[in-house]
Parts: sequence; structure tokens; C-alpha cells
Amino acid sequence: MNNTIKKVLIVTGGGDCPGLNAVIRGIVKRARKEKTWEVWGSIEAFNGILNEPQHLIRLTSRKVAGIHVKGGTILKTTNKANPLKYPVLQPDGSIREADRSDELISKIKSLGFDAVINVGGDGSQRISRELFKKGLAIVGVPKTIDNDLQATDMTFGFQTAVQIATDAFDKLVTTAESHHRVMIMEVMGRDAGWIALHTAIAGGAEICLIPEIPYDINKVLKRIEARYTRGKGFVNIVVAEGARPKDGTIVARRGEKGSEHVRLGGIAYQLAQQLKDAGCRAEIRETILGHIQRGGTPVAFDRILASLFGVKAMELVIHGEYGRMVALKNNNISYVSLEEATREYNHIQKDSYLIKAARGLGISFGD
Ligand code: F6P
Repeated sequence: MNNTIKKVLIVTGGGDCPGLNAVIRGIVKRARKEKTWEVWGSIEAFNGILNEPQHLIRLTSRKVAGIHVKGGTILKTTNKANPLKYPVLQPDGSIREADRSDELISKIKSLGFDAVINVGGDGSQRISRELFKKGLAIVGVPKTIDNDLQATDMTFGFQTAVQIATDAFDKLVTTAESHHRVMIMEVMGRDAGWIALHTAIAGGAEICLIPEIPYDINKVLKRIEARYTRGKGFVNIVVAEGARPKDGTIVARRGEKGSEHVRLGGIAYQLAQQLKDAGCRAEIRETILGHIQRGGTPVAFDRILASLFGVKAMELVIHGEYGRMVALKNNNISYVSLEEATREYNHIQKDSYLIKAARGLGISFGD
């Protein structure tokens, strides 16, 4: 009887995101119906396999009961375990990148796993694609609060981030109005301004600055001044961390050693300074939301989308349909090949209906 039992391994990699636990629960619940699949989790992305001793947990129905409500991931995560460019600390303190993908695949196979479900963003799905090419039976599930994966109409976690940012925005309006201030709120979004744009529309911002549309500080100032008469007025600005002025660069700090990306954050302060330098007389205050946007309980939409993704991913595994990533397409849960999933980045198109509608609402992009 035991010979017929198959094993699937779940991996969560990259930044945490509300809904990850709902995906895990969805996979386990769907697998349970088959009675022929055991579900396991690798702790801290692929480190659970690569590190010795290995750190894996059996995911039973009991283990995942009720976790769809919890933020984060019960499997832990890291953005420093890309098996294709694994950061190895050298004696002199520098980092050398090693390709540990063959080692990873052989360990996964020797542990008796028949399939892997890799839940992660753009970077993680590129890893899935390469591992699939090397012969690993793998299925991807898209995750990110940034909503920057082209192949799916939406990623889970995004709606939660927008809700958190909108709640924060509403609170900042109170102070802007009472003090006649310019309030700048910085949200996440490295290369795409989805959170900023949705929050600006939901909250009713006057100005929204996103990576896709570099801003002209004088145009931003002009929009602010139009809101003030005899020194009285107020303005609320939403700025994505990856936004930049027309003739400038993004505000980046060095990432930690071995991290897959540089750390962004701080454009709110830079923008405030630029406005003062350009002659803005209104008082300005800055708020950086940071990881608050990624924390806590997922909203209902994200729980549902994540649960549906989990069920679909397990169904692809059951049917042996590997090299695919589940996706939301035209109100349907389907899938795309990992090649297609990683082909294009999901920037906001400047002529999209969202940008046009935002302009129609009087939101300035500083262009
Ligand atoms: O990819 C999601 C994201 O939230 C980005 O918008 C942000 O720049 C990044 O993660 C920050 O990640 P961390 O600080 O956890 O490395």
C-alpha cells in the first residue's frame, strides 16, 4: 500500500505575503482527497533541503487547520537561498555565488519527492523555470504584494496591502486637513506602482508618483500650490518606493549580504527635500509604511485567491502537469507555462484605463 504513496514538497520563497498560509492549506486539503499524496514543507525556502541537517515538516490536515487566517508563512522564508546563485560567505567576508541547483535536485529526488510546488514571486518563478528545465517536476504559485507578475490578473497579498495602505492614507488625510499640510505616504513597489495607484484612487490622493512615470518636481509643486489659497489647503501624496524624478535615480540602500535585491525606501524624505528646494512653503510630513503592508491577516479576497491557487496547484501535480504556474485569468483559475510566466514584467501601462481614470479623478502623476 505504502508503495503507492507519493510525496509533494511545498516551498515558500522571497518576501512573506498575506495568503501564503492559505495556499499551503489549500494544497494539503486538496491532496487529502486523493489519499495517495503526502504533503511536506521545506523550512526557509530551499534551505530546508540544501542545509544539513535538512529541515522538513510533514503537513497534515491538523497542522494546517485554520492557518488561512494567519499572515506570513508557517514554512518561513528567505530571499537569500536562490539555488542557482546561492550566496556563500568567504573567509574574507565577501560573498561568492554558487550554482547549487544540481545538488538541490538530486537531494529532492533522493528524499523521495515526486513533485515540488514553489510559491513565490517573479524571482522564485524564474528559479522554478530553471529547475524544471533541469528535470525537476515543479509547479509555481505566484505571490507578491506588488502585483507585478504579468501572467496572472492579480497576485494574492496585493488586496491586503492596498487595504492596509488605504486605511493608513485615510488617517493621514485627517492631519493634512487639520494642519494645512502636505502629507507624503510612501508605499512598497520596487518597479511597479500598483499599490500606490490603487491606494491613490481608493484614498482620493491629489498626487501619485510611481516608477513607471518619472516625475517633474516643478509639476508636483504646481499641483500642490493649486490646492492652497492664502496659505490654507492640504495635499495627500502617495509615492511608490521605486519612484524617481525625471533627472534622478531611485533611493536605494545596500541590501544585506547575499540578498537578491538592493533595499529601497526613503523616497518620501527625498521628495520632501526636493519640494522644499523647489520653493514649497507648506509644511510637509513623511510616513513610510514599509513592512506593515505585508503583515497581518489577509483580507477575504486574498484568502480566497490563495486557497484557489493552492487547490489548482495540487491538481496540476495530481495530473502530472509540471512546468506550469497557476494564474487568475479572466475570472478563472487556470495556468501558464513557467516560460510564459517569467517572460514579461507587469508594469502599469501609461495608457491603461487605470491611469486614465486616475487622471480623470484629478490625480497628478507629476508628468
Ligand atoms: O517584493 C515585495 C516587496 O514588498 C518589495 O516591494 C520591497 O521592496 C521588498 O519586498 C522588501 O523586501 P525585504 O525588505 O523583506 O527584503
